[in-house]
Amino acid sequence: MNPEEFRKQGHLLIDRIADYRSNIAERPVMAQVEPGYLKAALPATAPTQGEPFERILDDVDQLLMPGLSHWQHPDFFGYFPSNGTLSSVLGDFLSTGLGVLGLSWQSSPALSELEETSVDWLRQMIGLSGAWSGVIQDTASTSTLVALICARERASDYALVRGGLQAQSKPLMIYTSAQAHSSVDKAALLAGFGKHNIRYIETDEAFAMRPEALARAIEQDLAAGLQPCAIVATTGTTATTAVDPLQPIGVIARAHGLWLHVDSAMAGSAMILPECRWMWDGIEQADSIVVNAHKWLGVAFDCSLYFVRDPQHLIRVMSTNPSYLQSAVDSEVKNLRDWGIPLGRRFRALKLWFMLRSEGVEGLQQRLRRDLENAQWLAQQIEGAGDWALLAPVQLQTLCIRHQPAGLEGEALDQHTRAWADRLNASGLAYVTPATLQGQWMVRISIGALPTEREHVQRLWQRLQAVVLG
Ligand SMILES: Cc1ncc(COP(=O)(O)O)c(C=O)c1O
Repeated sequence: MNPEEFRKQGHLLIDRIADYRSNIAERPVMAQVEPGYLKAALPATAPTQGEPFERILDDVDQLLMPGLSHWQHPDFFGYFPSNGTLSSVLGDFLSTGLGVLGLSWQSSPALSELEETSVDWLRQMIGLSGAWSGVIQDTASTSTLVALICARERASDYALVRGGLQAQSKPLMIYTSAQAHSSVDKAALLAGFGKHNIRYIETDEAFAMRPEALARAIEQDLAAGLQPCAIVATTGTTATTAVDPLQPIGVIARAHGLWLHVDSAMAGSAMILPECRWMWDGIEQADSIVVNAHKWLGVAFDCSLYFVRDPQHLIRVMSTNPSYLQSAVDSEVKNLRDWGIPLGRRFRALKLWFMLRSEGVEGLQQRLRRDLENAQWLAQQIEGAGDWALLAPVQLQTLCIRHQPAGLEGEALDQHTRAWADRLNASGLAYVTPATLQGQWMVRISIGALPTEREHVQRLWQRLQAVVLG
């Protein structure tokens, strides 16, 4: 494809994306296809000769679109909001179009410096002090992996330059809540801690980590000759958006010299609202934080912000310095390859910068407040309705609900819950996520897709009441 052909097809493609977003409400929210449908429709091998672009786009319409669940749909209440604001979509498009890579500052100076600046704008927006420096990673899973590797190296006095974890005399221990995201487990396993060395700390009635249980677990491990290493606390757990109390957890971390990583993948966006900052009371005691700008905030996936208090430690752990990447200005600049795992870096900052400039802080705050108010409205309806239960405090935009008609419990109640959630999703009229909480099925309603207004939440409530009747 040459630039002229690209111009023509590119305009058409932008038109398609704009039409898709304008008319998205007409589509069923959840994909209505069977496993293997697409593989059966596509040829088994790549075409020998190039094909006209129009034919490729036809296949997008005919074959791919039916196989998508629409996250940007106003009736999408599944998982979590992963909003792709159109301004950030354009930033992503430009990043790919420019095709530049940040291997070092010198390889694309504007790429590095825009990342520094836009991440620092976000730092200020979420109320973190100037003691924090940030970098963009792909996902929270990667950010948490980086955090646990850094924790491991601090606790082991840089064992990586000696025999690594395999030469440690005592196992290093990780503490997290029983409600933590599976990415914490995965990071601990990949960082070499081992399943036996993860302690899942008990939570309270609001599903938040109990600091006294944490302190007890650490004391017990010390008495058993183990070496406590890191705590991973969560602001906004995946199931119920529970908020671990950072103030007492931070005090415990400090007292024992443990690394404190805060997973704010979901709730970090809410920190742009001063009224939500109580959730981060004590955050300044942490060593690292992850905030997914690609969730509720609205930067097109993927854009996970990783903040650290000690960038020198991060660089010491992550740095490699091959001769072909050295330059005369290295002592004056940030080489972001030393701030994470990959060498190559996309120009992800563009989509963050485009969105921040185009929406403005107040525009973003307004949208998040709209979603919080919609969640409170739905919570009131559910609390006021006889057979319905709210299973966790509604602190953000997620509700955990159950329809519990009299006399239905245990296995029968689970079957009822799964059946109505499946019916609703299969109808294509709304998308919700069934999940277990304390061993029993419930349904998560996550409000906050870009086009979701009060009218959509009201309609959801009507649909919920109808769908449980069978
Ligand atoms: C609290 C929390 N942490 C981590 C993650 C994982 O995020 P990512 O897909 O960016 O790795 C999620 C995603 O749902 C989450 O809710």
